[in-house]
Amino acid sequence: MCGIVGVLSNHEVAPILVEALKRVEYRGYDSAGLATINAGHLDCRRSVGKLINLSDLLVHEPLQGKSGIGHTRWATHGEPTIKNAHPHRAGKVAVVHNGIIENYLDIREKLKRRGIECTTDTDTETIALLANHSISQGKTAVEAAFATLNELKGAFALAFLFDGEDDLIVAARKGSPLAIGYGDNEMYLGSDAIALAPLTDRLTYLEDNDKAVITRANVEIYDANGTLTNRPVKVISAGTGQPDKSGFKHYMEKEIAEQPSVVKGLLQQYLTTNGHFKDIPLDIGFREFDRLILVGCGTAFYACLVAKYWFERIARLPVEVDIASEFRYRVPPIGNKTLALFVSQSGETADTLEALRYCTGKAAQTLSIVNVTDSSIARESGLIFPIQAGLEIGVASTKAFTCQLTVLLILALKAAFDKEAINDAHLSDHIASLKDIPTLMRRALDHKDDVQAAALHISLARDVLFLGRGLMYPLAMEGALKLKEISYIHAEAYASGELKHGPIALIDNQIPIVMMAAPSDVFRKSLSNLQEVLARKGKVILVSDEEGIQAAGHEITMSVKMPKVSPLVAPILYALPAQLLAYYTAVAKGTDIDQPRNLAKSVTVE
Ligand code: G6P
Repeated sequence: MCGIVGVLSNHEVAPILVEALKRVEYRGYDSAGLATINAGHLDCRRSVGKLINLSDLLVHEPLQGKSGIGHTRWATHGEPTIKNAHPHRAGKVAVVHNGIIENYLDIREKLKRRGIECTTDTDTETIALLANHSISQGKTAVEAAFATLNELKGAFALAFLFDGEDDLIVAARKGSPLAIGYGDNEMYLGSDAIALAPLTDRLTYLEDNDKAVITRANVEIYDANGTLTNRPVKVISAGTGQPDKSGFKHYMEKEIAEQPSVVKGLLQQYLTTNGHFKDIPLDIGFREFDRLILVGCGTAFYACLVAKYWFERIARLPVEVDIASEFRYRVPPIGNKTLALFVSQSGETADTLEALRYCTGKAAQTLSIVNVTDSSIARESGLIFPIQAGLEIGVASTKAFTCQLTVLLILALKAAFDKEAINDAHLSDHIASLKDIPTLMRRALDHKDDVQAAALHISLARDVLFLGRGLMYPLAMEGALKLKEISYIHAEAYASGELKHGPIALIDNQIPIVMMAAPSDVFRKSLSNLQEVLARKGKVILVSDEEGIQAAGHEITMSVKMPKVSPLVAPILYALPAQLLAYYTAVAKGTDIDQPRNLAKSVTVE
């Protein structure tokens, strides 16, 4: 949610800020803006929509200055308009913000009593107005920013720039991530290491409630008590090149295609060539746990749902799965034999981070499965398992999902082994099946005709129903989510067995029904559910292997033929048709696949 950057440089900063914003545009693309100190005075440029619009504006209305801040917005309060775009300026102060100021209505009232009116729909504007008011009362820029920060409730990463102050940015963090980067007599600020990667790899992550006074030569960080403090400077390599599509039309297409190789790399990371576990930290003795909690959001949550089947079935470990935004508000009891596991591609999802914090100190062990290893969730977890998917740019998660599943299955097998729930022979069989996955993925990617034809059919629909049973049920959910996200077609997922308890009323000869049905011990039951649909003239697209498709008979409308795969590992392979159906549907509809409307890749507000 919202990307923030800041630069105190010896060169013109507008191009540097735009380049840095490009790298965090995945955080939001509702509007973008810059503020600089131009000949001693604050100046701003803002535009609605993607960053490219700001770049165009800067061609016609250049922005001079060697110090500045920038923002790319994912709207929370107020529509994506110029008026609501950041930086928000009030008199001598410009502010960029990621997060939500929960007491902004109280602050508005307070400002009103002082005769100061708000002119935007945002929560952020109140910050600029408060700080400017303090300056007008005689406070210095730093004093005004600090006094303002003390009044804010909610979550924020903030940067202040002040008229007349060419060598000063004040930054603060509470909840939302923020990093300070060190250059050669230059200083940088960014929402993450990716933003700052071409500028520096020397970073300090601010901790919650930190306030930073940044000049070109120095940074002073004050902790929650206002004490000047030292935060470590870390060397973090986030890859300096601008991401590229390597000849693919979209990042999503490229990331789908990368799955065989990233999953292969992951298997090599966590398994030896002769099928033993490696690089799995020894202090997790699964025997010590009597319960596993799995928490995530969006696609990561569906990975958790698949993992529940694995951990319960193979490792005989009771599992509770929850969406991060619900989890902590249930105030669930956490026993001291509980392993709490958090799944997040970005490692910054605010709800998942808060769920982790809720479990810290209560659970016997916290563990996270992340892609971004210097993220807040990674830094605050007891243990981390990187999924090593590489940079994922497409807002709809693809390769991160299959990598999350792969790590979760390896952990489930390790748990089963530690708890002696499976013998050596079974373990070897399962590991052999896992090792087949990259080849099977490649085969599935080489034969995309079925999936493209099915997607054309789906692209004409207004609603789509996804069905799945057992391990295929979460895959049906993932298929429906992907379709909604990038094609804007309404899609619902149901457990096939639940169909007759309501959703069957939706079936007519218009609505496509995608049935995800890898062979398994519930496959026959899925076939019965399929008959229930066909009896009501439902149009079924069956995703299964040759045997499954033959068993379904001739009444199905279309099929997507998958390679034969062992039932246990099938979700990792069947993620591909779920992704491809959505991808080709969106291609047919001509929607913005990599940056779908209203979405952002990293969701740092609750
Ligand atoms: C957003 C993204 C989804 C992602 C979810 C969780 O909604 O659009 O693709 O699955 O956040 O993100 P995380 O980074 O925690 O995996």
